[in-house]
Amino acid sequence: MTPLRNFLISFFLTNLPLRTTQIIIMETIQSIKGFADLFSPESDNFSFLEATAREVFGRYGVSELRTPILEKTELFARGIGGETDVVQKEMYTFEDKGGRSVTLRPEATAGVVRAFIESGQHAPERVSKYFTIGPMFRYERPQKGRLRQFHQINCEVFGTDAPHCDAEVMLMLATFLKSVGLSGLSFEVNSLGCPECRPTFHQRLTDYFSGLDKGKLCADCLRRTATNPLRVLDCKVAACKDVVAEAPRIDDNLCPSCKTHFDTVLSILDAAGLAYTRNPFLVRGLDYYQRTTFEVTSTNIGAQTAVAGGGRYDGLVELLGGPKVPGVGFAIGMERLALLLAGREPARKDFYLAVLDEKALDQGLLLAQKLRERGLSGEVSFAAKSPKSQLRLANKLGVKTCLLLGGEELAAGTIVVKSLDTGEQTSMPQEQFLATLG
Ligand code: HAM
Repeated sequence: MTPLRNFLISFFLTNLPLRTTQIIIMETIQSIKGFADLFSPESDNFSFLEATAREVFGRYGVSELRTPILEKTELFARGIGGETDVVQKEMYTFEDKGGRSVTLRPEATAGVVRAFIESGQHAPERVSKYFTIGPMFRYERPQKGRLRQFHQINCEVFGTDAPHCDAEVMLMLATFLKSVGLSGLSFEVNSLGCPECRPTFHQRLTDYFSGLDKGKLCADCLRRTATNPLRVLDCKVAACKDVVAEAPRIDDNLCPSCKTHFDTVLSILDAAGLAYTRNPFLVRGLDYYQRTTFEVTSTNIGAQTAVAGGGRYDGLVELLGGPKVPGVGFAIGMERLALLLAGREPARKDFYLAVLDEKALDQGLLLAQKLRERGLSGEVSFAAKSPKSQLRLANKLGVKTCLLLGGEELAAGTIVVKSLDTGEQTSMPQEQFLATLG
């Protein structure tokens, strides 16, 4: 509805004296910017992604965890990091009626860690694996593949710092992507070091940035050079990218144990045949990462190229008040994967039951019900129409078979079965037709 129309409606509603004959036109209510409704086939693609994730992740012993959408703001501020764009600019934060600051989850990891700690699930030597599927909220500028409410398939593994676990989650992600039919995606990997080697790297970065002409970095990065220089490596501003290209590299600054960890991860990926690129600037947008980070990208979905991302976060459980338990995980952006699946053929329904005579409507519905009870999928017409228009509709729905039920068939207890693939048409008793289905 146009703003002018909305204005006229509200003007008349508020200024006209209410007369008994007055017709009130209700203003339409639209969805919030960046919050999308998902109709079929997009919702079918979402269901397909979810079902595939459940099946593939199940093979790796990952079980489902459902956490709340709303959490205390402090969880994200502390967990994700106060210097990140997510916490500084993108959170949906508000006071609840009790005056507490709460936030719609911008990602799942912090909530999963909180639930893991709070439930006391951890036991020494135990590896716990969880997946979470659902909506996340970030107040970003909406564009293709970037929404304010978006959906993630998220996986977290707690209880081991073995590089084999990093490799396993990446291989599981690759298996998932292959299972949904997407094999041409690029894996980028990096190691961000640990609390032992990172301070030295921070210092080298700070020295490098402080030796530069101040005008070479954007205002945000100028601030970051003092607060969190690693974040500068992540900046999307072209001038900052030029500066970063010449900056010291984390690869050259890893301590021996981080280097061994990373080399082991890469050698397992090599042995498993997973192709990847090393990207020394992959720091990711969240502060909790240590050691391995990775991202999966596609060049076919517009400016937002990352379809999944993750990494190791060994200090996060402690940072959120839990025991010293390492963790690693990733999240897949469902909207972006759905863009890649956009051309996917929807599953074909088995039948369309065309009722040709008013008197056959009840019988048609009951027969369709029996077919569905036997596992077939399809629809039945709720109004009698001509065979021509019904067949047109059946073709439009893309079903395999059109069943025709008119007055003649009703009287004889038969049904006309027409294959929409071959055009072949036969009439047979309904009981016989049902018997062929078992
Ligand atoms: P992230 O990189 O912020 O990581 O998000 C993961 C994926 O979510 C992105 O690669 C992208 O596909 C999708 N995504 C992010 N923001 C949007 C948006 N505004 N609209 C549409 N899709 C979006 C995390 O969230 C970490 N929690 C991942 C993780 C789990 N790391 C360890 N465990």
